[in-house]
Amino acid sequence: MSLLEENQSTDLENMVGLSRRGFISAGALCGAAMFLGGNLLSRSVLADSVSAGASKLLGFASIPAATIDAITLPPGYKSSVLISWGQPLHKDGPAFDPKGNGTAAQQELQFGDNNDGMSLFEFPGEKDRALMAINNEYTNYRYLYPHGGMPQSADDVHKALACEGVSVIEIQRQNGQWSFVQGSRYNRRIHGNAPIQLSGPAAGHALMKTSADPDGKTVLGTFQNCANGMTPWGTYLTCEENFTDCFGSNNAEQKFDAAQKRYGVVVASKEINWHQHDERFDLAKNPNELNRHGWIVEIDPFDPQSTPVKRTALGRFKHENAALTETADGHVVVYMGDDERGEFIYKFVSRDKINHKNSKANRDLLDHGTLYVARFDAGDGNADHPKGHGEWIELTHGKNGIDASSGFADQAEVLIHARLAASVVKATRMDRPEWIVVSPQDGQVYCTLTNNVKRGEEGQPIGGPNPREKNVYGQILRWRTDRDDHASKTFAWDLFVVAGNPGVHAGTPKAGSSNVNTQNMFNSPDGLSFDKGGRLWIQTDGDSSNTGDYAGMGNNQMLCADPVTGEIRRFMVGPVGCEVTGIAFSPDQKTVFVGIQHPGENGGSTFPEHLPNGKPRSSVMAIMREDGGVVGA
Ligand code: FEO
Ligand code: CA
Ligand code: CA
Repeated sequence: MSLLEENQSTDLENMVGLSRRGFISAGALCGAAMFLGGNLLSRSVLADSVSAGASKLLGFASIPAATIDAITLPPGYKSSVLISWGQPLHKDGPAFDPKGNGTAAQQELQFGDNNDGMSLFEFPGEKDRALMAINNEYTNYRYLYPHGGMPQSADDVHKALACEGVSVIEIQRQNGQWSFVQGSRYNRRIHGNAPIQLSGPAAGHALMKTSADPDGKTVLGTFQNCANGMTPWGTYLTCEENFTDCFGSNNAEQKFDAAQKRYGVVVASKEINWHQHDERFDLAKNPNELNRHGWIVEIDPFDPQSTPVKRTALGRFKHENAALTETADGHVVVYMGDDERGEFIYKFVSRDKINHKNSKANRDLLDHGTLYVARFDAGDGNADHPKGHGEWIELTHGKNGIDASSGFADQAEVLIHARLAASVVKATRMDRPEWIVVSPQDGQVYCTLTNNVKRGEEGQPIGGPNPREKNVYGQILRWRTDRDDHASKTFAWDLFVVAGNPGVHAGTPKAGSSNVNTQNMFNSPDGLSFDKGGRLWIQTDGDSSNTGDYAGMGNNQMLCADPVTGEIRRFMVGPVGCEVTGIAFSPDQKTVFVGIQHPGENGGSTFPEHLPNGKPRSSVMAIMREDGGVVGA
């Protein structure tokens, strides 16, 4: 059943409390409040100018957009910092040096930079103690080094690598408040120089061998760790995204092959020049090093001595996150997006079944299985709420035209060059797939398609789940598997929301679908999570200029949706220049942990400490209700 039927759009407008016409005047009010208040927009102003809406699932009032350098929340909520970039993980560990003089070795003992996806792991039987595994995606050179520019030495590269990867930390709750436990024996960094095992069909393949690792089975480092996943057997999955940016060539005339081009390799990336100082990243010398990144890495947070494992059966691309669920007969399913304009959505189904009684028996479950890629039909073309059908196409050597004749010698090559294999079977080119989540209520799968200014160009036709030319706002796609079984090869899809700006544009293509209004509008949906109550949380990584197409949207934000009625309310606004990304709930749902990444990316922020001339620091926030109730309820 499709939950947002066409004839519900009028009902929806009524449910959110104002008609589209009404939103315009509310938006004007909002704009006036922002103008009068400037950067000092107060919480009481926010509370006065909102409409309650009708969803029984959403227990807070939507807040207006904001442009201040702080976290803005609905009345009755508060936030505190759980941990920030550079905080020492161990007893007597090196303190954060705001001047940037700290060494790589010191950074390896500190919380990493630019925190992104994260998961919370409960200690059995202990309600006030947990572990968190948190991705550290990349770093900001303007704040990392005293010189504030691109790396200038091998030491600089080493320090950048030390900022990335994953941080595992213990947290505890006292008097209702969660805090970071410095010195816990579980605290750990898995950074860009850490030894990691390769496993699955591509491990040991000729394309994975380098002079430093002639066996092709051990790689140094995980970096560009975007979002995450959590297995039913208690391990963490970290997803390597923009890995190709870390590579370049000291040969300015270097020619790249089709696979390297397809993964986006260039001689010199605009932002990362590691190859100039560390030959591991120089494709003229180490072309195969590139193949050892772009994977999903499995980590056991409860064993600080364990070696993380790159699971090659899940395919190599610019991984966003990993959404795990189960087939009707007990096989694990992993849904995954490849975040690049025109790239694909994948799913992996394990060969073996999950053993729910013995978690160690699942240790190699992600090494054997079948990878699929999604193909969507053109849908019904409805402007407000398109829907249609789709299918999963198997990416197995010897099937569907994937063989030597199309350039694949074996299954390892299919996985290493998953993008090329998916193109052979004519998968649907999407508007940058970001996070995917599976509803705990009804098993429907949601995927953010963040934006795609190239939609409409050759090879990226307009239509189906990608309905808009030069799509600057993004949309959230949803599908329901046939027979409600994630093993099913077919599904029905619809768009849950088409983001837009009804304050600037009229008409669905740019104003957004009927569940978007001037009080909840946003651009570039990215992070997604369901809480136990079935609320869908949406985080944004968009244009926060608050002008032009984005006027009135303010800073990046977190919204909350009722998946049944389609109503969306703005719950939180982040500080200046940040991306809001990464979300995890305490088991009792009374705290939500939210990542604030790169505040002040282009200056203008001292979040969260607000010291005079202080540096902004990426941080994980703990957000609670002042009355200690369930967040969002
Ligand atoms: Fe790291 Fe696609 O976001
Ligand atoms: Ca993201
Ligand atoms: Ca993004």
